[in-house]
Amino acid sequence: MLWTMGSALITGASSGIGREFAWKLAEEYNNLVLVARNKDRLEALAEKIRNTTGVQVEVLPADLSTEEGALRVAERLSATKRPIGLLVNNAGFGLGQDFVDGELERELEALNTMVRAVMITCHAAAKAMKERGSGGIINVSSMTALTAQGTYSAHKAWVRTFTEGLAAELAGSGVHVTAVCPGLVHSEFHSRAGVDANQWSDKMFASPADIVKASLKACRRGQVIVTPTVLYKAAAAALRLSPRKLVRYVAGPARSGRTEGMPLE
Ligand SMILES: NC(=O)c1ccc[n+]([C@@H]2O[C@H](COP(=O)([O-])OP(=O)(O)OC[C@H]3O[C@@H](n4cnc5c(N)ncnc54)[C@H](OP(=O)(O)O)[C@@H]3O)[C@@H](O)[C@H]2O)c1
Repeated sequence: MLWTMGSALITGASSGIGREFAWKLAEEYNNLVLVARNKDRLEALAEKIRNTTGVQVEVLPADLSTEEGALRVAERLSATKRPIGLLVNNAGFGLGQDFVDGELERELEALNTMVRAVMITCHAAAKAMKERGSGGIINVSSMTALTAQGTYSAHKAWVRTFTEGLAAELAGSGVHVTAVCPGLVHSEFHSRAGVDANQWSDKMFASPADIVKASLKACRRGQVIVTPTVLYKAAAAALRLSPRKLVRYVAGPARSGRTEGMPLE
């Protein structure tokens, strides 16, 4: 069991990494609150988890790209009845477009989901957890926080830096805060972004289970940044040591994986 005083709230729980967080935490006998837009998928998952593990599962459908959705989740995080002991900010998506020729509306949807909602939910959760003197927050960033793949990289870099600051602010409070920086992971992420995941070798992918195991272990022991799997630990080290000009060349927008990506300069 991870956080005995409370439930775990997971955003983006209907699929991929979030769904795996839900199963793993339920198997550790934590009650759950599942957040995503697709209510039917959340209800179906909740029913399966209840029947299999016996834990209590609440379903909280919310579109985190909207202020109303993010504030509704924040309200649940602040509640003193059935308090939340672990927040997993996992909802996110690849934009599937370049910045200049893309839709501004899509950009704002991404920013609001992966940055604004993370700030709003962390503000509510951190305050409640600090008052109780215990809790955990896991924010899913990405390896792309170290690359130059457009606004997606920028949002994930924000998540990583924001998490470091929050962890420092909460040091000694009993609240652990962790940013997770996965590389490629098998999920619906690539198909949703219009990217053919088959272009990369299967060896380059981690499973959602790998990511969840590394994230929970890191948060449990108070590790602030975790890059799961040996391959991406090495890649992160190489990115940190490389000149930024080289990083922009090998890991800029042209390497997003979309077939219509920008040509290399
Ligand atoms: N897969 C990778 O290679 C990879 C690598 C590094 C980091 N990540 C990060 O990992 C996280 C999870 O992604 P995944 O790979 O598991 O992808 P996924 O299978 O596509 O799952 C994404 C989840 O986010 C939810 N979501 C998307 N937009 C939302 C919104 N506006 N409001 C609420 N929920 C929303 C989706 O549910 P609904 O559609 O029902 O709302 C879904 O549950 C993301 O933050 C992603 O950036 C992924």
